[in-house]
Amino acid sequence: MGLPKGILITFLVVPFAIMLHQAAIGTAESAAKPKDFPFRVFDEKTDQAAFRFEGVSSIDQGALQLTPDTLNQAFLLPNRSGRIMYYRAYRLWLSDNDDDDVVASFNSTFLLNIYRNKEWNAGEGFAFLIASDINIPEQSHGQWLGLTNASTDGNATNHIVAIEFDTEKQDFDPDDNHIGLNINSVHSSKNVSLKPLGIEISPEIATNYSVWVEYDGRSKVMEVYMAKHSRANPPNKPNTPLLSETINLRYYLKKESFFGFAASTGSPAIQLNCVLEWDLKVEELHPRKDWTWLKIAAGVGVPTMALLVILGFWLGIRYVNKRKITRVEESNVLGTLKRLPGMPREFKYKELKEATNNFHESMRLGQGGFGIVYRGTLHDKDHEDTKTSTEIAVKKFSRDNIKGKDDFLAELTIIHRLRHKHLVRLVGWCYEKGKLLLVYDFMPNGSVDKHLYETSSQNTLNWKHRCKILAGVASALHYLQNEYDQKVVHRDLKASNILLDSDFNARLGDFGLARALDQERNSYAELEQAGVPGTMGYVAPECFHTGKATPESDVFGFGAVVLEIVCGRSPGIKILHEHHQYSLVDWVWMMHREGRIEEAMDKRLNDDYVFDEANQLLLLGLACSHPIASERPQTQAICQIIAGTTPAPSVPPFKPVFMWPSMGAAYSSTESTVSNVILSSITVSY
Ligand SMILES: *[C@@H]1O[C@H](CO)[C@@H](O)[C@H](O)[C@H]1NC(C)=O
Ligand SMILES: *[C@@H]1O[C@H](CO)[C@@H](O)[C@H](O)[C@H]1NC(C)=O
Ligand SMILES: *[C@@H]1O[C@H](CO)[C@@H](O)[C@H](O)[C@H]1NC(C)=O
Ligand SMILES: *[C@@H]1O[C@H](CO)[C@@H](O)[C@H](O)[C@H]1NC(C)=O
Ligand SMILES: *[C@@H]1O[C@H](CO)[C@@H](O)[C@H](O)[C@H]1NC(C)=O
Ligand SMILES: *[C@@H]1O[C@H](CO)[C@@H](O)[C@H](O)[C@H]1NC(C)=O
Repeated sequence: MGLPKGILITFLVVPFAIMLHQAAIGTAESAAKPKDFPFRVFDEKTDQAAFRFEGVSSIDQGALQLTPDTLNQAFLLPNRSGRIMYYRAYRLWLSDNDDDDVVASFNSTFLLNIYRNKEWNAGEGFAFLIASDINIPEQSHGQWLGLTNASTDGNATNHIVAIEFDTEKQDFDPDDNHIGLNINSVHSSKNVSLKPLGIEISPEIATNYSVWVEYDGRSKVMEVYMAKHSRANPPNKPNTPLLSETINLRYYLKKESFFGFAASTGSPAIQLNCVLEWDLKVEELHPRKDWTWLKIAAGVGVPTMALLVILGFWLGIRYVNKRKITRVEESNVLGTLKRLPGMPREFKYKELKEATNNFHESMRLGQGGFGIVYRGTLHDKDHEDTKTSTEIAVKKFSRDNIKGKDDFLAELTIIHRLRHKHLVRLVGWCYEKGKLLLVYDFMPNGSVDKHLYETSSQNTLNWKHRCKILAGVASALHYLQNEYDQKVVHRDLKASNILLDSDFNARLGDFGLARALDQERNSYAELEQAGVPGTMGYVAPECFHTGKATPESDVFGFGAVVLEIVCGRSPGIKILHEHHQYSLVDWVWMMHREGRIEEAMDKRLNDDYVFDEANQLLLLGLACSHPIASERPQTQAICQIIAGTTPAPSVPPFKPVFMWPSMGAAYSSTESTVSNVILSSITVSY
């Protein structure tokens, strides 16, 4: 008699649980459903959400660009790597301990264009990639193809299988024009030279290739076909594959894996790595009918099941009620955050509370306009025996309700994608009960201003440290303005926003939240009226007129930072000199005019610095402080001047006069329109 009742109850409980589950998924996904295959063109605006971008990759000119696509800024091309993966993972087999050996079949068809200029020596290569993890390893440029690096190559924990299209010969390659099957390594387990087959992957005359990668999950055969493509007469799949190899993906990949592409350039070997179209079909595996559930349900008996039903309904009602209140706000936020490329870790509020000793006053690192930053320690519970712990900085936003949530999320998505060794890394986030917290790498040496102003003269920053900090900030600025696929304007460059790691490497802090959090507060006019200390002196004169930050106004802010770090004086504090008050820039300019620029040096250095370097930096600082935006040097030149490979520009004896409106295209020396520029801002310093 137990049997029929058991079945009945199972039917009651299971659908109910499924219903709740679907409700939860439904709300998170509805925010903006990424586009599905096929992609006949890639749209810069609407297709961002469908992919995860790693390294220097982007969507540009209707194509996936694994490495930068630029012909007139060739210096951006060498030594790059990138990955672009479709946003969702696919299930490749059903269960790890299933005797049934079936793997999902798939077909991936794409249009490939590997371009090289006649003067270029093509390299390094491109790959179609299946990986358990979308993250690109550091230093994966050159021979590593964005797949591995010198330390990870060959390691089974990579869990990658790729088809490489290699255009540069390494010692372990047959030639510089081959495809290969790569398993966890750039050393192919099977290679096929294409020259005898009349195919050149990166010919001097730009050529599009149709590529078919097909996998049969029953026979475990992987095949690659390739044919020259012409729009007028699209090719059919050739009869014979170029490469055909038996490989059981279960041995190398993980059950849930991502599909996408990777590529790299070297030096001097460079090429553009573009995917113009992509279609992917992955077989959906269905579990065999499984009656175990029913058997268990029947066996457990009526009383337990009745209790479960009651519990289920009670929990369900609570859950539904709770969701009603917070669903509207949270679904959007969570949905977007969870889809961030590279998936920063989601923390529980409780975890961060514990890490910061209940946000204890003694853990406080600093305060900014929008929240307080605490120091914290995460104890890694997974490795109880090793007792590893990680230092973090937790920013707790003071406002419970974030204004302009969509803007905020849009910016956060971008911030998260910025990867540079001189930008502070976003480790994770927490959004619970309307409270927002962001988690960053902890910077043990605090901010630059503390070192300049709060330490005794004995242990102030030495000259080497100061030069290293400026070089770091310049390279971060160059990355934001030129190397990232969208221009990012920092907007609030100042010493308190430059943090130092244990080796005194500079890192710019967290980005982009000010505008979305509080629009009104960002008006430069108000800053001017209020004479906000610590910001005055860093803001370019034209900003007070336009209210807009630009790449050039960031260069102005950088100039102020250079003078500040070299002179050890805050740009916001006037200097009294022979009964006159001078701003830092005006004072240094006067010293320059009078031929005694060394008197501007920080006295605490005790003459322990290299005069030529200091002189170049001060001139650079003045050049960046030019009142006319278009006259300021560009970041590329700034990096070269700091590296000592280019001399500083000549600086006139008198500071030029600021004119408004300025003549011609003073604002953007670059082609980007203002709407293309993302205004970001560091708001909270440690
Ligand atoms: C490219 O990287 C290699 C090592 O990976 C290095 O030797 C070379 O100097 C780099 N070239 C450029 C132009 O950065
Ligand atoms: C892949 O294409 C082959 C034909 O070339 C077809 O038989 C197979 O069903 C396709 N597989 C998937 C998963 O679409
Ligand atoms: C390889 O990549 C890993 C992961 O990004 C990184 O930890 C490691 O330092 C890299 N190794 C080299 C030699 O760059
Ligand atoms: C492979 O990688 C894992 C984790 O990334 C590491 O623990 C292990 O030492 C590596 N193995 C080798 C042989 O390098
Ligand atoms: C490339 O493949 C050929 C034929 O399969 C093989 O003989 C050769 O050793 C391979 N070359 C390398 C460098 O792996
Ligand atoms: C390659 O394809 C792109 C996009 O469809 C097209 O604009 C371009 O003209 C093609 N190039 C060649 C050489 O066929």
